[in-house]
Amino acid sequence: KCFVFNAFSNKMVNDLVDVKIREECEMLHLTDKQLREIMNRLHNDLVKGLGKDTHANSIVKCWLTYIQDLPNGKERGKFLALDLGGTNFRVLIINLGENHFDMQSKIYAIPNHIMTGTGVALFDHIAECLAYFMKEHHVYEERLALGFTFSFPLKQLGLTKGILQRWTKGFSCSGVVGEDVVQGLKDAIARRGDVQIDICAILNDTTGTLMSCAWKNHNCKIGLIVGTGSNACYVEKTENCELFDGEPGKPDLLINTEWGAFGDDGTLDFVRTEFDREVDNNSINPGKQIQEKMISGMYMGELVRLALVKFTKMGLLFGGRGSDLLFKRGSFYTKYVSEIESDKPGDFTSCMEVLEELGLSHATEADMAGVRHVCECISRRAAHLVSAGIATLLNKMNEPRVTVGIDGSVYRFHPHFHALMCEKIAQLVRPGIQFDLMLSEDGSGRGAALVAAVACRQQLATA
Ligand code: GLC
Repeated sequence: KCFVFNAFSNKMVNDLVDVKIREECEMLHLTDKQLREIMNRLHNDLVKGLGKDTHANSIVKCWLTYIQDLPNGKERGKFLALDLGGTNFRVLIINLGENHFDMQSKIYAIPNHIMTGTGVALFDHIAECLAYFMKEHHVYEERLALGFTFSFPLKQLGLTKGILQRWTKGFSCSGVVGEDVVQGLKDAIARRGDVQIDICAILNDTTGTLMSCAWKNHNCKIGLIVGTGSNACYVEKTENCELFDGEPGKPDLLINTEWGAFGDDGTLDFVRTEFDREVDNNSINPGKQIQEKMISGMYMGELVRLALVKFTKMGLLFGGRGSDLLFKRGSFYTKYVSEIESDKPGDFTSCMEVLEELGLSHATEADMAGVRHVCECISRRAAHLVSAGIATLLNKMNEPRVTVGIDGSVYRFHPHFHALMCEKIAQLVRPGIQFDLMLSEDGSGRGAALVAAVACRQQLATA
């Protein structure tokens, strides 16, 4: 499963890439020495996040999730789920049965004016979609339990209470930071007054991904997202979580690392490039989510574009002649990176299509090889940074075999991301530690239902 597709050794194609482009791209190459340094720094930040006296000043927050039980496969019932925080907002209804589940879902748009409007408008919109969905699925009259996947940094105070710390990934609704998000949704549902919903749990998408894999695979103890954003959660020993104030006696606790913020204090400056700084400066949250901006789908295409712009201006690409679109911010979609790298070595069919879309049909074969090289350097760097993060967690957990449940558009659609990660994690992890990387089937949806189901199981047990 972990075979390595070596896209970088095809000599003929490599020969086409301009030497100067290759030299310029060197800054995007992370050596193992640098990656190990990044691992040390991340490890220190994780420990700081967990520590009672260090948490407040830690950049990597390691939020407690209040999830201490992984699913045991016996969860049953009908649940609603909400998924907010990726490219789409979704409402789902999930039926957990014996060894199978069925799920229906609907995607609703979150228009830009709502993403950047008021919190009240956001929650009203969510509640409205929920009510429409319940009508359409003939459960409008029923009282249902709901799991809410809310993929932003939350300081959780319990399974159904979470205070938003900051918005990420292009959201900036007013009046929500510092507030309990569950209450925000409850209030919106109450304002409508038509549907009956019990919000049983709020969770992160990484948590949902882990839970969804753990339903079948009991080794799954890390959840990873490489999508619009990047983040990971993992199973930590409760005794290491100095801030935990929940039910005592359970050995494990799921931690949402929020590692996207890694580097916000300059820790990653020794490997950041001019492209990273420009992406950050032009974002709606400058100085924040530095590691995420080097990895995730919201920024990857723009990193490529900035490099292409630079090389065009240097006269190394397209005969020095760009196009209006190439010079326009956000015009190089991250999906282009996956498409371009999906071409077989020596074939440039997708690359040509992308360049034509961008008004660069005057590109020569050497230009296309150069564009592909830039894509490879940016996506490989992202895969290596994620690998350093996962290897840090694996070393910290120090268990003989751990499965990593993974979701997100970059991991899912990039043709080599999985292989690059397998290869690099194996090089970085302590000898003797084994790992598997497993695509999680719809973690944010099914995971939310599972967390709600486990919560219901507990609520019934204690009733
Ligand atoms: C951002 C969010 C985090 C989420 C990740 C992936 O980093 O802050 O909560 O898990 O994106 O969606």
